[in-house]
Amino acid sequence: MTTTGERPVGFGRMTRKEDARFVRGHGTYVDDVRLPGMLYGAVLRSPLAHARIVSVDTSAAEAHPKVRAVITGETLAGLGLAWMPTLSYDTQAVLATDKVRFQGQEVAFVVAEDRYAARDALELIDVEYDPLPPVVDARRALDPGAPVIRDDKEGRTDNHVFDWEAGDRAATDEVFARADVVVGQDMLYPRVHPAPLETCGTVADMDAVTGKLTVWSTTQAPHAHRTLYAMVAGLPEHKIRVISPDIGGGFGNKVGIYPGYVCAVVGSIVTGKPVKWVEDRSENLMSTSFARDYHMPGEMAASRDGRILGVRVKVLADHGAFNSTAQPTKYPAGFFHIFTGSYDIEAAHCEVTGVYTNKAPGGVAYACSFRVTEAVYLVERMVDVLAAELGTDPAELRMRNLLRPEQFPYRNKTGWEYDSGDYPRALRLAMDLAHYEELRREQAERRERGELMGIGVSFFTEAVGAGPRKHMDILGLGMADGAELRVHPTGKAVLRISVQTQGQGHETTFAQIVAEELGIPPEDIDVVHGDTDQTPFGLGTYGSRSTPVSGAAAALVARKVRERARLVASAMLEVSPDDLEWEKGRWFVTGDPDQGRTMAEIALAAHSTLELPEGVEGHLDASCVYNPPNLTFPFGAYICVADVDAGTGQVKVRRFVAVDDCGTRINPMIVEGQVHGGLADGLGMALMQVIAFDEDGNCLGGSFMDYLLPTAVECPSWELGETVTPSPHHPIGAKGVGESATVGSPAAVVNAVVDALRPLGVRHVDMPLTPAAVWRAARGQPFRS
Ligand code: CDP
Repeated sequence: MTTTGERPVGFGRMTRKEDARFVRGHGTYVDDVRLPGMLYGAVLRSPLAHARIVSVDTSAAEAHPKVRAVITGETLAGLGLAWMPTLSYDTQAVLATDKVRFQGQEVAFVVAEDRYAARDALELIDVEYDPLPPVVDARRALDPGAPVIRDDKEGRTDNHVFDWEAGDRAATDEVFARADVVVGQDMLYPRVHPAPLETCGTVADMDAVTGKLTVWSTTQAPHAHRTLYAMVAGLPEHKIRVISPDIGGGFGNKVGIYPGYVCAVVGSIVTGKPVKWVEDRSENLMSTSFARDYHMPGEMAASRDGRILGVRVKVLADHGAFNSTAQPTKYPAGFFHIFTGSYDIEAAHCEVTGVYTNKAPGGVAYACSFRVTEAVYLVERMVDVLAAELGTDPAELRMRNLLRPEQFPYRNKTGWEYDSGDYPRALRLAMDLAHYEELRREQAERRERGELMGIGVSFFTEAVGAGPRKHMDILGLGMADGAELRVHPTGKAVLRISVQTQGQGHETTFAQIVAEELGIPPEDIDVVHGDTDQTPFGLGTYGSRSTPVSGAAAALVARKVRERARLVASAMLEVSPDDLEWEKGRWFVTGDPDQGRTMAEIALAAHSTLELPEGVEGHLDASCVYNPPNLTFPFGAYICVADVDAGTGQVKVRRFVAVDDCGTRINPMIVEGQVHGGLADGLGMALMQVIAFDEDGNCLGGSFMDYLLPTAVECPSWELGETVTPSPHHPIGAKGVGESATVGSPAAVVNAVVDALRPLGVRHVDMPLTPAAVWRAARGQPFRS
């Protein structure tokens, strides 16, 4: 890292450029957008989980003096827009025509002069429903005679979505047959929700004169949305502009296209006015994309001396009413097949069966790259179950089986190539920071006194940075990202990128990447993002792909500019480009460091009357498209210490040590912030969160009274450590980190609580470990939310 005073010129701790805007209330979120003549939309939602629609009477709503339009499924059917494609090549109703298939499904859309009138008018719409029995439990979805949810699909007689497998079944069976020890544990990763503080919303403005549609939208992937609007609505792509302004958290929730977005566009076309639609909290929790909902009966085979030999699982995946899961097309279960985790395992096999249920659609990679969270949770719980069976310390068992540094690049048994790592070093550091041996001694003493103290260990390997393009796409759009960089005559620069920050600090870190490459201070580099008219094409921000993909694009485009600067400098200094050497911020003559030109001088010369060398057109800019050769594989070792109150079932996480390795750290302060947030997320999932349903399919998690967010009160003071193992294939050696902690932490918390309860004979408790769940588990009563 190079610094001028306090400020890094490149990598290093630097406060976020965007924070000045946020802390002073100068952010612009979708709901801050106000256009002349703007109207407001509201969605009428189904109160039932499964019902046939007999009739929809909108006459009273239309008669409301402030209502400008009422749109129903029938209206949309007339435009060929009643159904839209999902990100998983399924179809999803924009507004229901035949049936409603989950509670909260979109049935009608009112456009009115203000948002209160729009809401009031919803109550004037009379929908007659004919209730049908719902499918709520995924384990019953394939029963003979189960109600068929997707009877809109011709010939469909069941609720099956897909079967998918990875690994080698025969080799795995063989390993299990000869293993000394086989353990099995059925576990559920419950349905959870990303719950960003800003809910989803859009402002659609169709200009009837120019034919240009401008959409301000809470999207993590503005370019992908624009292309999909063009494909679905048949609008010319250059006549669509998607602007993703400041976004108040995404976590995967803002990847998909929701019916409300489409209705707002139709509302604008129908009324000729801009239409804003912003959902409320309950709408967000009940109808937008959930995450997880994986039933996982895992098995692990080992030798008596604690060598893990194999792992297998047959997952049942609850996909809700429409399969609008967001993940690369080739992988219907996302990257779940990285479930061999961080261990040197001889054989592995997984099968995943997806089913429809009467629940909200759209499994998203909530702070994980496509089901890695489920995979890590499964393998890390299984290792603890095995450790208990063998009577071995769980940290010791992990240490014995972790991949060794010399095995990298490592191809796992389901085909992933892990790029780099030193796993034992990370676990050792976490154990040292936690004073692991002392903790075990303390635990033994407390157990003597009948106190329930648990120590939970987890080790994770993430797979982040989707592409490569030839293997990964969303609806045929390959996962590569563009970047454009221009250095102005005065040496200030503008970088244009396709990814979209939702609070991760891209305006700072992407400026730091260019600063590191060119020596221009980060504050002199403007990062433009979130506007399809202003930025190059790319697939967006999710799965921690920004740094691995767009971050690489930013570094490479800066290197292109640096090379062009070399040619200009050679003309300025009248030497051959080969005789120039680079030091951060300037080219100078080899052997004569005083003879050099700074980037600012070169930039001015590139725009001046200077005679430039043959083939150099002038100006100082470049563009590139980066197609990653592989994903990056960040990893980490986590240790959680928890105390359980046997009388109330209350869990108190007393300490949490997290050692993360995300390769080169661009901005360690931002990385730590990402880890803090992810740890809180993971603690929330482990202890308090589930989108549950009653037997009629009523959603029981539709408000923050029921769906709890962890606060500083529940979180311990996080104790962080780091190791740095650069990615060998990334231009700056950086791996993604945004989601690492969410992936790695739930298993550590659950392992700690189960460890605390071990003296009571408890081997597993499903998340969330609410006081009720823990209290019952402590009394030998199974509990499932
Ligand atoms: O795609 P997303 O931005 O959510 O995730 P990410 O690529 O992991 O980056 C999260 C934030 O951490 C960004 O501001 C990154 O530039 C920063 N980061 C970093 O400073 N160093 C890394 N090795 C990885 C990420």
